[in-house]
Amino acid sequence: MEIDVAGTGVVEIYRMLVGLVTPRPIAWVTTRSPGGVVNLAPFSFYNAFGANPPVVVISPTLSRDGKKKDTLVNIERDGEFVINAATERHAEAINRTSAGLPPEESEVELVGMATVPSRRVAPPRLAEVPFALECRVRQVIPVGSGPISANLVIGEVVTIHVDDAMLDATGQPDPRRIRAVARLGGDHWCRTTDLFDQGRPA
Ligand SMILES: Cc1cc2nc3c(=O)[nH]c(=O)nc-3n(C[C@H](O)[C@H](O)[C@H](O)COP(=O)(O)O)c2cc1C
Repeated sequence: MEIDVAGTGVVEIYRMLVGLVTPRPIAWVTTRSPGGVVNLAPFSFYNAFGANPPVVVISPTLSRDGKKKDTLVNIERDGEFVINAATERHAEAINRTSAGLPPEESEVELVGMATVPSRRVAPPRLAEVPFALECRVRQVIPVGSGPISANLVIGEVVTIHVDDAMLDATGQPDPRRIRAVARLGGDHWCRTTDLFDQGRPA
């Protein structure tokens, strides 16, 4: 099968793309809505892109009716967000926080997650997750303009919180302890428990 993107509907392309570019890590993002309401939503258009300075990108796309999602609105207004770890323990809660609640309602309350103040940014982080990355926005780059078009939010990580219990004997994050979950296409998710190791070539 070969798909000519120019002649294919956006939703069809979206389904194909997210089914092929897998697995995608999940950023469980806290931002502040007006009035101090804490917004929480998952984003699998997410990754890390460098370490000096540490940089992550998330993409809250425009919705299928072409509107900005609350997370993007909050990020554009405040310039700050927190990426909270997405792990097996919270897989169901993560999914539930993708519900399209109005900005005055908090997904944090919906799933009963506790928050704690962040160190350097205004949005709080989730208390019960193994790590959290406090981020300040460097740039927001819209790519396209219609439904499901990307908004590349480039965030500089200014504080890293990690539960000591998630580190191995050498002080590195231990995937067996973190137990991250990730997104595949459709309704498929995956665990990170089937590991194998390979040393890097010299
Ligand atoms: C695991 C998962 C990953 C998601 N990834 C994205 C994403 O990368 N970009 C996006 O725009 N929406 C994504 N969504 C949908 C958003 O979470 C959903 O639109 C949410 O309502 C946005 O919340 P907000 O309006 O509070 O920002 C994802 C949903 C799930 C369950």
